[in-house]
Amino acid sequence: MNQDDGSTTPSPTGTTVMTGASRGLGRVAAEHLLRRHPDRHLLVLNRRPGLAAELAASTGNRNVSEVICDLASFADIRRAAAEVASALDTLGPLDGFLGNAGLQMATARRLTADGIEMTFGVNVLAYHLLLALLRPHFAVPARVVVVGSDVHDADLNTLGLIPPPRWDDPRELAKPGRDTAREGRRAYATSKLGVIYLVHALRRRLPEGVDVYSYNPGMVPDTDLSRDAGRFGHAAYRLVGKALVKFPFATTSAHAGRLLAETMSGPRPGDSGSYISRGEVIPSSPESYDERREEELWAVADDLCGLASTRRRPA
Ligand SMILES: NC(=O)c1ccc[n+]([C@@H]2O[C@H](COP(=O)([O-])OP(=O)(O)OC[C@H]3O[C@@H](n4cnc5c(N)ncnc54)[C@H](OP(=O)(O)O)[C@@H]3O)[C@@H](O)[C@H]2O)c1
Repeated sequence: MNQDDGSTTPSPTGTTVMTGASRGLGRVAAEHLLRRHPDRHLLVLNRRPGLAAELAASTGNRNVSEVICDLASFADIRRAAAEVASALDTLGPLDGFLGNAGLQMATARRLTADGIEMTFGVNVLAYHLLLALLRPHFAVPARVVVVGSDVHDADLNTLGLIPPPRWDDPRELAKPGRDTAREGRRAYATSKLGVIYLVHALRRRLPEGVDVYSYNPGMVPDTDLSRDAGRFGHAAYRLVGKALVKFPFATTSAHAGRLLAETMSGPRPGDSGSYISRGEVIPSSPESYDERREEELWAVADDLCGLASTRRRPA
């Protein structure tokens, strides 16, 4: 590959496209991938220009490039996917996708550029569209990991921090909800249930050899996930988190990011469609296995994203 300074590095053996590499546990995962796999290319989709240069400087690996993408805009996702597709002409084959970007809002009223409730738009629909556009470019074998959360499980004890998910007709989920922090956090839990539904529906459509997984990092309080709660709310969450990190259900971004990177690059974790919790395949909540909801979400997401419907692979 040609670098900006005219020097060359060997052509990469494969390419991973990644979202959410700018901070939090994704930043750790991106740096880990670059340090441990200098033979592979990492193409990051991020909102702020300059991330690839920062990652190259912090890891000493220049096999990294970026495409600017705001996941809260279908038009931006389409432009970014086209840029990724043309970049792939000179990169190694696309055999990895790590969808780590996600957000939690202190309201359910904020909207994406397309008028979709922000949490559902970014955490669920953005991946539906992005993966639909990248699907024709995947090599075989390839691995797709989309980051979900254990808060998708209505029976999880979140110490009252996150209300349980409330699934609904996906057209209703796409509409703005109430302007309260509680409903914002509920939208987050619901969106992570949607991630699992999406992964199950995607498994039925991806070709044999292209595996897709949802991933739960566990509770990682030292990230910026709660930043929409404002300076005080975010600081309070991080303070409580510091105490919680001593318990087995919580961990640091350093640990969670490393495990996520290892899941991305290690041996095949398990059957396609599986839920991986902190590096281990386990069943997700009983509610998260629901083919009717999965297919309904798929159809509505196709419609909202302006995609032609994608047929399932014959069983
Ligand atoms: N922290 C936890 O306790 C926890 C638990 C379970 C699951 N997770 C999941 O883990 C993933 C990483 O979260 P984190 O805790 O590391 O949070 P974080 O520090 O807030 O990082 C979130 C990442 O998502 C990106 N992002 C957010 N909105 C975006 C948009 N519209 N377009 C493009 N990128 C966007 C951010 O980019 P910018 O820098 O541009 O904002 C950032 O890179 C998320 O999917 C989250 O839901 C976290």
